[in-house]
Amino acid sequence: MKGIKIRGTGRSVPVKTVTNQDMAAIVDTSDEWISSRTGIQRRRHCGEGENLTSLSVQAARQALESAGVRPEEIGACIVATLSADTLVPSAACLVQRELGLPEDIPCFDLAAACTGFLFALHTMECLLNASPRKYGLVIGAEYLSRLINWEDRGTCILFGDGAGAAVVECREDWGTVPAVMGCHGDDKLLRVPGPGTSEPCLISMEGTQVFKFAVEAVPWCIRQVLETSGKTVEDVDFFVFHQANARIIDLAVRKYRIPQEKYYKNIQDYGNTSAASIPLVLSELQEQKKVGSGSRVLLVGFGGGLTWGGTLIEFA
Ligand code: UT7
Repeated sequence: MKGIKIRGTGRSVPVKTVTNQDMAAIVDTSDEWISSRTGIQRRRHCGEGENLTSLSVQAARQALESAGVRPEEIGACIVATLSADTLVPSAACLVQRELGLPEDIPCFDLAAACTGFLFALHTMECLLNASPRKYGLVIGAEYLSRLINWEDRGTCILFGDGAGAAVVECREDWGTVPAVMGCHGDDKLLRVPGPGTSEPCLISMEGTQVFKFAVEAVPWCIRQVLETSGKTVEDVDFFVFHQANARIIDLAVRKYRIPQEKYYKNIQDYGNTSAASIPLVLSELQEQKKVGSGSRVLLVGFGGGLTWGGTLIEFA
């Protein structure tokens, strides 16, 4: 088995910023409640001329440029999302068309909610092992503002739109990337109904229950990844968590005594962007040169499904 490393990253977020004060004009909430309970101060919502495909394409272009890879060198394209513009064609096929990716490659969407980007990375490694091309494009993108129930103050304040992308490279001389993944089928705690139901296609969540699940899942994923890879917290250069709630991250870093310079939050700026949140962090970290060639990053995702996962991946 060949292994993958991240070659380049990119991101794109909508122009429009929606502050906590803006939210307080819509539902009975306050900046104080939202920021103290979640860490969110603002989020981006798509406006005129923006959609999931346009965000994905921009993020992907930036990732290709940062990797120094041409579209025709890509061997597979996966978009992790729960909010694609159309069910068919997939967002990945639309990205393929816009970027001019090769036609003899698989392009598809992957639905694993907030863990989607992690599942997609692992899937990409498997695909590239069987591909004559060595580069893959993995995108995490969401347009959650169109799934928001504006009458539910417990959820409408949480979600934002955005896209992050990574170009990965697969090589014989790189070991397989350690990955742990899990699912627990549950249709009550976190739900977005689809066309097969009579319910409106809006997000509903039992927040406190999901919070309890998350504060167990995150440390479990860290421990499993470290054990599987035979590494310690000290061996990891950066910890990247799904940005669902700042308090979930705070509890995990305290438990593992992860120093402040080894983790990052951007939930204050983007809210919860589900599958986009991890690649959005990766792209900001790379741009700020907090990670670069040789950096070893431990990624942890968790969310609807329920799903969870962790991986330890390096930058090429
Ligand atoms: O990304 C996928 C994974 N998702 C997550 O990991 C999310 C996990 N869950 C959470 O982050 C938190 O549960 C929330 C931020 C969603 C909610 O925080 P909480 O501390 O669990 O609040 P709660 O739902 O228990 O509500 C506490 C109180 C309630 O009032 P009473 O019953 O105590 O009077 C709510 O009605 O806060 C009230 N409340 C609000 N008040 C002001 C709920 N939402 C709001 C709001 N503004 N927006």
